[in-house]
Amino acid sequence: ESQDSGKKEAIVKEYACMRKTPLKSKNPDIVSALETLSENAFFHDDEARRLAFQKAAGVIKSLNFKIKNINQVKGLHDVGKHSLEVIKDIIEEGSSIEVENIINDPWFHQMKAFQSIYGVGPSKAKKWIAQNVFTIDDLIERTDLHSSFDHRMELGISFYKDLNTQVTKQHALAIKNLIQQHLEEILPGCILVLAGGFRRGKASGHDADILLTHPIEGKEIGLLPKLLNLLSDSGLVLHGTMETGHNNPQTIMKDKGKPLASNVDHFDKWIGIMKIDKNLKDLDSSDNENDLIQLEQNSLTETSIETKKGRLSKKRSFVQTLDNNEDFARDTKKKLASNSKMSFEQLLALSSKDKQWVARRVDIIVVPVSQFFYALVGWTGNKWFNRSLRLYSQRVLGLKLTSHGLFDLNRGTSLPANSEHQVFDNLKLEYIEPTDRNC
Ligand code: CTP
Ligand code: MN
Ligand code: MN
Ligand code: MN
Repeated sequence: ESQDSGKKEAIVKEYACMRKTPLKSKNPDIVSALETLSENAFFHDDEARRLAFQKAAGVIKSLNFKIKNINQVKGLHDVGKHSLEVIKDIIEEGSSIEVENIINDPWFHQMKAFQSIYGVGPSKAKKWIAQNVFTIDDLIERTDLHSSFDHRMELGISFYKDLNTQVTKQHALAIKNLIQQHLEEILPGCILVLAGGFRRGKASGHDADILLTHPIEGKEIGLLPKLLNLLSDSGLVLHGTMETGHNNPQTIMKDKGKPLASNVDHFDKWIGIMKIDKNLKDLDSSDNENDLIQLEQNSLTETSIETKKGRLSKKRSFVQTLDNNEDFARDTKKKLASNSKMSFEQLLALSSKDKQWVARRVDIIVVPVSQFFYALVGWTGNKWFNRSLRLYSQRVLGLKLTSHGLFDLNRGTSLPANSEHQVFDNLKLEYIEPTDRNC
């Protein structure tokens, strides 16, 4: 840290994906103020402002010194006039009136609270506030509103307490291992990685994002319905939506524009809520990264690898894939849907009785190993880091980056990657550690 910090101006790289952004900022008050402004703009449907403040917050998060003088941040990339004023107020007065006003505005708090309900977005939150609904309990008591709730909201409201208690990393790893144990019965040798915020170094989060692959390409086909069927039979599934059947890189390349245009990926995935035993402990405390190294080596040697179950050939011709039965997938979807036919009243009763389990948001994403490291970058995030990577890729390289790969849409080609390092190499970017992707 420099002593003469009042004179020196920091240099900030243009794209957030070129900067190291650790979890803990040296300027937490400023970051939190700018993010409050961003969130408030989001609540007011002002996307441009939301982005402007978010970008400014991102730049400040990447600074490796404590701002003591406004001159240190003047002229910094993406720190606009408005953000500068806010920063100046905080440095010189200790706070910004504009930000204080938002923080003291009950509307902002109600929006935050409603927004944090599973299945609820800003427009619904706004409607409720306009109808004089202020608390979660109001939502339960105001039976006149109940007909406007969809099933996700009913779950979000009933299990508000469970779902809005942060998942610890230890619990998330335990959930990962629980899923792994079930997988061993279906397809041994799968590799699971806890991605999302935990991989970026967060100690807790709102869900467990679990990436699932198998070192032999093709083995993962048809896996998700089988897994969900088993988890459901074990009484571990409260609710969820399963997407299957469009997990195909060929379609993705051929169909230029469309699927690639959106930032949503096309992997088989389950987005849902699991019932997790309160006392579930992570017996095998092994973290992710060992499996990842194994996977990198696997892809690099191209021959064969040691898995937990022994030596397996990687050659596609030897692959004994699971029965990719579309009927089975459809039946499983039906079965899962019937699980979630519970009425709002039943859900409320279920959530309020003494139970041994806690409702936990879990995302399970099934990825073919050839696309794994792109998916890993995408599902590690954070959201703003991804946004920056994709913009950079488009504008600087003229390539389309998604969680499936890095594509040259004109030539119809893509660049493979056998590690996260290789993803960054392909992007001609300096490697950024997951813990430095907290933009
Ligand atoms: N993501 C994605 N596609 C989705 C949902 C999420 O690619 N349909 C990405 C997000 O951009 C993010 C990562 O997956 O980078 C994890 O998303 P999420 O769980 O929403 O956020 P976290 O960063 O994990 O934060 P939290 O700890 O609150 O869960
Ligand atoms: Mn929400
Ligand atoms: Mn997450
Ligand atoms: Mn998630």
